[in-house]
Amino acid sequence: MNEVLARSKQPLVLQSPLEVHSAVIRARTCGKRVGLVPTMGALHAGHLSLVHAAKAECDVVVATIFVNPAQFGPHEDFDSYPRSFESDIEALADLQVDLLFCPATAEVYPPGFSTYVDPPDVAKRLEGECRPGHFRGVATVVLKLFHWIPAHVAYFGEKDFQQSLMIEHMVRDVGLPIEMRVCPIVRDQDGLALSSRNRYLSAIERQTALALSESLQLAEDLVRQGICETQIIRTEMRCVLEAQGIRDIDYISICNPQTLEEQSEVHSNVVVLVAAYVGKTRLIDNRRIG
Ligand code: PAJ
Repeated sequence: MNEVLARSKQPLVLQSPLEVHSAVIRARTCGKRVGLVPTMGALHAGHLSLVHAAKAECDVVVATIFVNPAQFGPHEDFDSYPRSFESDIEALADLQVDLLFCPATAEVYPPGFSTYVDPPDVAKRLEGECRPGHFRGVATVVLKLFHWIPAHVAYFGEKDFQQSLMIEHMVRDVGLPIEMRVCPIVRDQDGLALSSRNRYLSAIERQTALALSESLQLAEDLVRQGICETQIIRTEMRCVLEAQGIRDIDYISICNPQTLEEQSEVHSNVVVLVAAYVGKTRLIDNRRIG
């Protein structure tokens, strides 16, 4: 009996954009502050940290789960992307999320769909170069979510540093009436940044993947030792990755965190970003150095 009583209330699950829109408008009309946490599901503690942040600041929290086909390239992992709806709902219920929006693909991209968002300049380099069309897909779906769910605040993770920056620029450029919060990266105890794609890693690959966060730690250590030539830092980082057998490196970048312009020397705040394949799994990670 106690167990039953202790069970958390499931969020209200809505699939229809019009229904979620009216529910959020109703909450706003009652004076509630609404927070939005967009995800593609396969939830882990990184996603849940965004929910915690939203719960702390808002009266009503709306999470979304939609594996967005438009942001996957033709040879990427859309079909195999982890889907764990049942355990996701449980995790959201435990945190007392009020509403879960999970639209059908045909609702987001109806037949004949052809209107996409042209992403801002910060989307051009790094992920934008390595994954053509990716940010167009992200910007398009996020804009649609912002229309359907007129929240006061939207929560994103610094894990996807360029994505969060790109959405901040889109919000500014389009003049969307929503506040952005970008929350810190949640890591496992050994430093590996949590990611839904970590589920693809074998035990050995997971060990290898630690080289990403280790290379970022090394970058910080080098800066603290007074080394500011980014070429030297990047070379040392590459050595750390290669020593673990990671050779397929998309980029190691040391940039201005506002513009994502590559820096030749570290003088003020920078963000160090890395993207590489561990086996067949593409991982990204980053670290701010101030
Ligand atoms: P997804 O990869 O599911 O991530 C959803 C949100 O969780 C993103 O804002 C992401 O930055 C954040 N996140 C992921 N791992 C995290 C970690 N270890 N620590 C903190 N936050 C983390 O990003 C997407 O989905 C999609 O592109 C989306 C924005 C939903 C559009 O489809």
